[in-house]
Amino acid sequence: MPPNLRLIFFFFINLSALSFSPASAVGFNWGTAASNPLPPVKVVDLLNSNNITKIKLLDPNPLVLQALSGSNVQVTIGIPNLMLKILNSSRKAAESWVHDNVTRYLSGATGGVRIEYIAVGDEPFLQTYGDQYYPYVMGAVANIQGAIAKVNLESRIKVVVPCSYDAFLSESGLPSKGHFRPELNKTMIQLLTFLTTHRSPFFATISPYLSLRQNKNISLDFTLFKETARPHNDSRRTYKNTFELSYDTLVAALSKIGFSMVDIVVAQIGWPTDGAWNANSSTAETFMKGLMDFIHSRSGTPLRPRRPPLETYILSILDEDQRNISTGPFERHWGVFTFDGQAKYHLNFGQGTKSLVNAQNVEYLSPKWCVLNNNKDLSNASASALEACSVADCTALVPGASCSDIVWPGNISYAFNSYYQQNDQRADSCDFGGLALITTVDPSNSNCRFPVQIRTSNSHSLDASSLLKTISLSALFWLYQLVYLQ
Ligand SMILES: *[C@@H]1O[C@H](CO)[C@@H](O)[C@H](O)[C@H]1NC(C)=O
Ligand SMILES: *[C@@H]1O[C@H](CO)[C@@H](O)[C@H](O)[C@H]1NC(C)=O
Ligand SMILES: *[C@@H]1O[C@H](CO)[C@@H](O)[C@H](O)[C@H]1NC(C)=O
Ligand SMILES: *[C@@H]1O[C@H](CO)[C@@H](O)[C@H](O)[C@H]1NC(C)=O
Ligand SMILES: *[C@@H]1O[C@H](CO)[C@@H](O)[C@H](O)[C@H]1NC(C)=O
Ligand SMILES: *[C@@H]1O[C@H](CO)[C@@H](O)[C@H](O)[C@H]1NC(C)=O
Ligand SMILES: *[C@@H]1O[C@H](CO)[C@@H](O)[C@H](O)[C@H]1NC(C)=O
Ligand SMILES: *[C@@H]1O[C@H](CO)[C@@H](O)[C@H](O)[C@H]1NC(C)=O
Ligand SMILES: *[C@@H]1O[C@H](CO)[C@@H](O)[C@H](O)[C@H]1NC(C)=O
Ligand SMILES: *[C@@H]1O[C@H](CO)[C@@H](O)[C@H](O)[C@H]1NC(C)=O
Repeated sequence: MPPNLRLIFFFFINLSALSFSPASAVGFNWGTAASNPLPPVKVVDLLNSNNITKIKLLDPNPLVLQALSGSNVQVTIGIPNLMLKILNSSRKAAESWVHDNVTRYLSGATGGVRIEYIAVGDEPFLQTYGDQYYPYVMGAVANIQGAIAKVNLESRIKVVVPCSYDAFLSESGLPSKGHFRPELNKTMIQLLTFLTTHRSPFFATISPYLSLRQNKNISLDFTLFKETARPHNDSRRTYKNTFELSYDTLVAALSKIGFSMVDIVVAQIGWPTDGAWNANSSTAETFMKGLMDFIHSRSGTPLRPRRPPLETYILSILDEDQRNISTGPFERHWGVFTFDGQAKYHLNFGQGTKSLVNAQNVEYLSPKWCVLNNNKDLSNASASALEACSVADCTALVPGASCSDIVWPGNISYAFNSYYQQNDQRADSCDFGGLALITTVDPSNSNCRFPVQIRTSNSHSLDASSLLKTISLSALFWLYQLVYLQ
């Protein structure tokens, strides 16, 4: 190609990159750490009725993948961290992982699952993991990529690694000084070399909510995209919100190791609605609106003008009452929908001004609650509640949370009920040494909801009539799949 023609060609490419930048897609994380999960078929129904076309899964849950089969939803499948070691050391293990958890789902009577990415590890670079996982990441990536290539899927499925929010930082708070944690340097360079070779994006969690909790310099208004928040300056660049600040810290970290151009996918971003101060539906709605306005404006950030993230995955679709709360009780309240698929607030992620559509025909356990019997000697009640809370979900009771106003002994009832519901309302789960009783009067108040859990196939699995019901329900499940997802 003659030089001047090449110039024009280049110009055209750049121009088209600027003016036809594709719509930045929005998807959702779908986790299954729930005691009584909304049935996957109902969740897929929820995705369809809300035009959600992208989903990121933490593991290849067979029921979830079966439910997604035949739908138009594009899927990212995660590989759990515990698999990384074996996948690093054995190509054979990677091949059978891909065969069992990917290839098997690509086709089928209902059309298969549209698998787009395989995410190696679940934030294996999290600082709290130390060197438990990250040394195995690149070996696992290479073996999974090899396994994908062997079955000729490399043009269809991309291999990525979800990077945690704490893998990159800037001590001064200035985005331009962003860098990866020093011990990750080598792995990051290898990962980015791999990603650019395969034209794959960099997956990263951006967590304005955690930045707000951890950094005194950051205000709530600045994190909630409020126009009135005082901007942060980085020489001549002005930052109007925490999201852009964090995003450009990542951009700078990538540039520092020589990969300033790689596409970024925001793999997790959200705002919890309970379990902490500042975590409620109103702050979550404000944050999400700010984030969506940022994405839809396509204006990008100071270090990446006009290049918003390629894709953004909201954390999360539903609340999960069994999520690990080592980071904080709010971890169980990331859902845009409640555990039973009811929208918590208004959100427009690109589907126009329509309101979110709730899950339909959710099957609940009976309208019964387990509460403290106030006529008993309550001296041991607190100990029983603590015991219940060690397995059940009491995150709504902590300071700042929705049920924190309930004083003793009402909070004991909350704990007993949570345990009872998680155990599918089995009579023996509402005993607590005779301190508890079952009631049909809803103890909820306007702020604090005592939930009735979802009926699952485990519920009442001990008696024969409900076993029959379970069998016919699963028959319905398949019929539903065949007819509806056709
Ligand atoms: C990963 O696997 C390779 C090949 O078996 C091995 O040489 C290497 O030591 C493994 N990495 C770690 C951190 O164990
Ligand atoms: C499929 O994935 C699950 C979850 O990672 C894992 O437990 C299982 O062993 C995998 N199958 C194979 C054959 O590796
Ligand atoms: C907080 O702000 C002060 C003053 O602007 C600055 O010196 C410090 O490095 C900042 N810290 C963080 C973590 O951003
Ligand atoms: C990490 O990589 C960057 C760029 O190559 C380099 O400047 C920096 O010194 C490295 N840090 C460590 C701890 O290796
Ligand atoms: C940031 O820069 C803007 C305009 O350049 C200026 O008006 C503002 O006072 C600066 N803010 C701080 C905190 O320095
Ligand atoms: C939600 O949190 C914000 C910020 O902490 C607070 O100002 C507001 O009153 C809370 N809203 C409700 C309904 O609790
Ligand atoms: C929760 O996470 C912490 C920190 O990663 C870990 O030490 C702990 O074992 C986890 N708990 C459960 C029940 O998985
Ligand atoms: C979903 O998308 C279709 C086609 O773009 C549109 O007709 C429909 O109204 C959308 N539904 C919702 C709930 O946004
Ligand atoms: C409270 O628990 C202790 C230790 O298990 C037991 O000895 C005591 O009898 C209990 N008190 C009541 C009122 O149940
Ligand atoms: C219930 O509230 C009391 C104070 O009113 C507190 O000491 C206790 O730890 C709470 N129990 C639970 C399970 O939250």
